Amino acid sequence: MDFTGSAFVIGASGIGKACALAFARYGVRGIVIADLTLKAASAVAAECKSQAIHPDFLAEAVAVDITKEESVHQAIAYAHQVLGRIDYAVNSAGVGVQLANEIAEASVSEFEKMFKVNVTGTFIVTRALSALMKTQDPVPVDEAVPARGVSQGSIVNVGSASGFVATPGMVQYTAAKHAVIGITKNAALDNAKHGIRVNSVCPSWVDTPMIRKAMDDIPELGEMIQKAVPLGRIALAEEVADAVMFLSSSRASYATGCNMILDGGLTRYPRIPSSPSLTMAPPNNNPNGYYVESFPAPGLRQIVRHITGLNEQGKSVFLHSDHGDHHRFMVQNQAISNLLYSTQETPVDLNNNIDIQKAKEKEPPFHYKSGSIVRMIDFGPGVESPLHRAMTIDYGIIVEGVFELILDSGEKRIMRQGDVSVQRATAHKWVNVTGNGTLPGRVMWVLLDCKEVVDAKGEKVEGYLGSLQEHYEGR
Ligand SMILES: NC(=O)c1ccc[n+]([C@@H]2O[C@H](COP(=O)([O-])OP(=O)(O)OC[C@H]3O[C@@H](n4cnc5c(N)ncnc54)[C@H](O)[C@@H]3O)[C@@H](O)[C@H]2O)c1
Repeated sequence: MDFTGSAFVIGASGIGKACALAFARYGVRGIVIADLTLKAASAVAAECKSQAIHPDFLAEAVAVDITKEESVHQAIAYAHQVLGRIDYAVNSAGVGVQLANEIAEASVSEFEKMFKVNVTGTFIVTRALSALMKTQDPVPVDEAVPARGVSQGSIVNVGSASGFVATPGMVQYTAAKHAVIGITKNAALDNAKHGIRVNSVCPSWVDTPMIRKAMDDIPELGEMIQKAVPLGRIALAEEVADAVMFLSSSRASYATGCNMILDGGLTRYPRIPSSPSLTMAPPNNNPNGYYVESFPAPGLRQIVRHITGLNEQGKSVFLHSDHGDHHRFMVQNQAISNLLYSTQETPVDLNNNIDIQKAKEKEPPFHYKSGSIVRMIDFGPGVESPLHRAMTIDYGIIVEGVFELILDSGEKRIMRQGDVSVQRATAHKWVNVTGNGTLPGRVMWVLLDCKEVVDAKGEKVEGYLGSLQEHYEGR
């Protein structure tokens, strides 16, 4: 890469830091690093000095809060004063998701905070840099190829693959990153006649402190990334910096308004599970190649759960419609359970919708003492449950497909769509025989607690879950 000018980078961590170091290594004359934390910016400036190849390289740091116009103007004025001109600017300051929630429960204050930094901040920075670059003298892009024209500067924003696709529970980030793409496109258009190019890089998951924090909050995220990304791994911050270097360089003299996706193929083939709370298991020992990654299981219909209640006028209304709670993979990802509802006591306290809150917050055990569970399980082709006995009265309804219900006596029945079993604390197992074991199927159960059961000899009947136990451990 042939950098002859000076760089200004906002963001002294993760992607911003990788860009600053790359500029130094590729020969820029000087660099100013800006961040909310001056200490972090100074540390990166020092690291740049140790890696720079330009003989007269200079690196300085400045504090900036990109949400504040005055602060951005001061930081840019400082960089301009130190460097003489800003040829390559990168804005990598940003914040990640703090609270992941479905749209109906999404936090307004989190949305506003996200927009303040990631959208208004990007707008303020792009605006201020454009104003400065408009005043800079045009310089030839490439002395050897005059046809490449002249440049007054280049701006690269760090967007995200979330600027192109949505991620469940992350409306604030999706909307903010779509906006970054809009700002970049518009700024490119407005600035084209001034010789200023404006582009963005749009990565998916990148190994930076921002994503490390998310991994601490969601332990299964690392594994989920590996499975979701066709290239099978998270990106390095340096790989994003490589794209930023290209877009900043004379090699990209014809690129403006370009939002470069860097996602290991993810948005070409999105397979993001529907909730970060999903427990993922690798598709190992899978005898028939069928694999469930989200609800509904492949080949089965999406279902809608409607929850009603009373409004302020005492009228009955629909409060909420969604697809159920607490999706959990089972049988090495050949089945998935979906909790349609649970109550923790009888009679149920419906006041202040406390039951709705309880059902959403806590994934229930197999059954609740004195409570109720409505559970749906999507079975892959041929999937068989272990023999088990729940100390409940349990209504099993075949929703899709054909199942064999086998009791511990060896008695069995074939059940088709709409058929119901009334299990009275009996030991049994279910086998999905839909399409002779070639198609998925779905069963719904309503489980109610029962009193202690004694057999004909007067002995207490004990419940057991067999290998199902591991799915209900600790709940
Ligand atoms: N890490 C990823 O997986 C990933 C993926 C796609 C896009 N991105 C985007 O890349 C950008 C950089 O993220 P990162 O992963 O390097 O994160 P990071 O947390 O490592 O770095 C972000 C930097 O921005 C700074 N910052 C935050 N608010 C600021 C403000 N108001 N003013 C000035 N500086 C501020 C922070 O101090 C921090 O140094 C963000 O816009 C992020 O949305 C990250």
